[in-house]
Order: sequence, then C-alpha cells, then structure tokens
Amino acid sequence: MFDLKDKIALVTGANRGIGEAYVLHLLQAGAKTIYAAARDLDNLTPLLARNPQVIKPVLLDVTNAEHIKALATQIPALDILINNAGIANACSLSADNALQIAHTEMETNYFGPLQLTQALLALLKKSPLAAVINVSSIAGISSFPMMGPYSASKAALHSFTQGLRIELAADKIQVLGVYPGPIDTRMTEAFEMDKPKPSQVAERSFMALDNGELDVMPDDFSAQMYAAFLNHPHELEKAFAQMQ
Ligand SMILES: NC(=O)c1ccc[n+]([C@@H]2O[C@H](COP(=O)([O-])OP(=O)(O)OC[C@H]3O[C@@H](n4cnc5c(N)ncnc54)[C@H](OP(=O)(O)O)[C@@H]3O)[C@@H](O)[C@H]2O)c1
Repeated sequence: MFDLKDKIALVTGANRGIGEAYVLHLLQAGAKTIYAAARDLDNLTPLLARNPQVIKPVLLDVTNAEHIKALATQIPALDILINNAGIANACSLSADNALQIAHTEMETNYFGPLQLTQALLALLKKSPLAAVINVSSIAGISSFPMMGPYSASKAALHSFTQGLRIELAADKIQVLGVYPGPIDTRMTEAFEMDKPKPSQVAERSFMALDNGELDVMPDDFSAQMYAAFLNHPHELEKAFAQMQ
C-alpha cells in the first residue's frame, strides 16, 4: 500500500502536461505538500491557484546544477520524487544534427534526473515510505522511428531506474519506471492520432505504486508494444520499423 495522503512530493516539469497531471492527482489524494518545479515560475500561476497552501512553486531547470543544489537545501523533507521533466525532438540518428540533439536530450532526460535524485536521496532515505517515479517512455524500451536520440536518452533513464531500484532495495524506497506511448500533451501535438489524457498516466502510475509494481505501461499503445517486446524484443523493433 502506498497512500498518498499527507505525503510530501516533488514533481519536475510541473507546469504542464503529465507533470501538471501528477500534481493535480497528488492534490486530490490529500498530499500534504507538493513542490511544483518549473524552469519559469510564471508558468505555474494557474496550477498554484488550485491550492497555494499545498502546491509550492520551486525553480528548477533540471540541467542547472546550481538550481539543484539550491533546491536540496530549500526542501526540509521528501517522500516522493517524480522525475517527469523531459524534451523530445523529431530527429533521426543519421541526421546531421543528431549528435547535438543527443547531447541536449541526454542532459535533460538522463543527467538531470540522475543529478536531482542524487541531491535528494538523503531526504528520501529519512522518509518512512518513499518513492522515486521516473517518467521514461516506451521509446526507452525500443527505439522509436525518427526519435533515435530521444529514445537513447529514455533508455538511459530506464537503465538508471533499474540500477537505482537495485541500489535502494535495502532502503525500502520504491522505484517505479513509467513508460508511456503517445499522450495528449504539447510534446505530441504534431502526432495526429487518438491519445489518452495525461491524467491517465498519473492515475496508472500511482495505482502501480500502490500495488508495489516496478514499472507501468500507462496506456493501450505502450501496453501493446511492451507485450510485443516481451514476446520477443525484435518483434517490437519490427513493429516500430513499419511505422516509419
Ligand atoms: N507526451 C507523450 O507522448 C510522452 C510519451 C512518453 C514519455 N513522455 C515523457 O513524459 C514527460 C512529460 O512530458 P509531457 O508529455 O508532459 O510534455 P510537455 O507538455 O512538453 O512537458 C514537458 C515539461 O518538461 C519541462 N522541461 C523541459 N525541459 C526542462 C528542463 N531542462 N528543466 C525543467 N523542466 C523542463 C517543460 O517545461 P517548459 O514549459 O519550461 O518547457 C514542461 O513542463 C517527459 O519526460 C516526456 O519525455 C511523454
């Protein structure tokens, strides 16, 4: 059982999309304090209006080591860390700018969560019931067409999630990997297809946490793709190749 009531949580990239959905779910479930992290505090105004007593704005660009250092001294306690902030570019691995895009995406999608988690681990270890939720992607399980560099950054986050879970097993900190397919946020506005709402990702993530699951495929697309992967990793690769 992982009851969200009275918990203290921090959500990165909280100002929109899936991050905002995590904050709203935590609020509804009775969390005590929700640190909503964003790299531009003005973008948090509509979210803070929901409940300024519970939702606290914090400045955080996950690629900024100074922000991370300041945040770690600003927060007195923490039960749940949600590494949600991320960027995605449409870019193939053979494109001229693939190296530059790969560096940028690794900074935000992998090094950011790694550094932030390290900085907040001491607080999480003091909590009687703690969790780290890492928002990877089904593209982190098998490289998605036209998003090769992004997929590699999400595969790195997937590996980090597994490694952290192993390292923290004795500390009883739950580490949950979240692997969505296309979700209806600004990130996928160019994809014309039926997409679940970000609230579904939040709801299924917390359900998985409560059930003690290690990872969650929060939508039909990712669940189907993961089933193909479990059948045989190359089956998913072939399915993605046909989507090009
Ligand atoms: N939407 C999907 O289909 C999908 C599928 C699989 C995985 N995901 C993952 O889900 C997570 C949330 O994405 P989303 O769909 O909600 O996309 P989104 O609407 O584009 O939101 C991305 C969030 O990340 C923040 N962010 C980006 N770079 C940051 C940085 N350096 N420091 C701090 N915050 C930063 C953005 O802040 P700004 O507003 O300042 O830019 C924004 O709040 C991402 O990790 C994404 O890779 C999404």
